Amino acid sequence: MLATTSTLTVARTVDELRAAVDAAKSAGLSVGFVPTMGALHEGHQTLVREAAKDHAAVVISIFVNPSQFNDASDLENYPRTEAADFERAAAAGATIAFAPSCDEIYPAGFATTISAGAVAEQLEGAHRPGHFDGMATVVARLLGLVRADVAYFGRKDAQQLAVIEQFVRDLVIPTRIQGVETVREADGLAMSSRNMRLAQADRQRALALSRGLFAAQRLADGGEHSARALETAVQVELDAAALPTDYATLVDAATFLPVDVLDRECVLAVAAHVGPVRLIDNIRLAPASV
Ligand code: PAJ
Repeated sequence: MLATTSTLTVARTVDELRAAVDAAKSAGLSVGFVPTMGALHEGHQTLVREAAKDHAAVVISIFVNPSQFNDASDLENYPRTEAADFERAAAAGATIAFAPSCDEIYPAGFATTISAGAVAEQLEGAHRPGHFDGMATVVARLLGLVRADVAYFGRKDAQQLAVIEQFVRDLVIPTRIQGVETVREADGLAMSSRNMRLAQADRQRALALSRGLFAAQRLADGGEHSARALETAVQVELDAAALPTDYATLVDAATFLPVDVLDRECVLAVAAHVGPVRLIDNIRLAPASV
């Protein structure tokens, strides 16, 4: 049975989701889709609002996908706030929430893994073995289940978006992929479900990531082309806050391969540990002259 909270239809099973999407489609509604792992914040809500601008039916999925966690304690500590998530999703304009059990997503006999190649090997791919394969596999399955016209993903996870664009193109998946700008707190910290695990003092130290990226942005706007100089601007802030760094690297925006010179559209990406919490952030940079 489908449960309904205000205007939100909650589907727990693949069959319930299929029924809800079929009903929307046969009513002639276009379908937008926002995949999430829950613990919804303003960043997720912005994706839902973007989807609701263009689609009368907006599906949000809430599923903490075990196969993309390479660290058991990260999976265990991942926040789960389902009741509040349904409220927030509905408030932002979602009409269908898909909140399945693990067995619905990975039924007995499930065997396929999607591997997106070089774009998934650098940065997060190098630091979180198996993460992008697990992510790509669940997103492919969700895209197949929802059959949306457009699916929305945040640029906060820029490499994830690049991986999704790669396999959606390669496998000719008929849903258009739409990127949405990173939503930040007033002080610059990129919103993340993991921020709620930051202790008070660590919340301040976490600002080093965005502060470093903004410093690099100002350098690039002033004509700095050297990857080393831009990366150092980030590293200086991370070092000042004593945050262990996984990477602070300038990469090509499409391939995610490192570059030496900012001579095209690039992403400056950073990952650092703030106490027990690992945070990522990035900024898009283009040469000042272009
Ligand atoms: P999750 O981390 O819950 O993020 C869901 C979506 O919200 C992703 O597209 C992410 O990029 C976007 N998002 C998160 N924080 C954001 C911010 N501050 N500004 C803009 N967008 C933001 O990413 C995942 O879940 C999973 O990997 C998933 C794609 C659902 C597959 O399991």
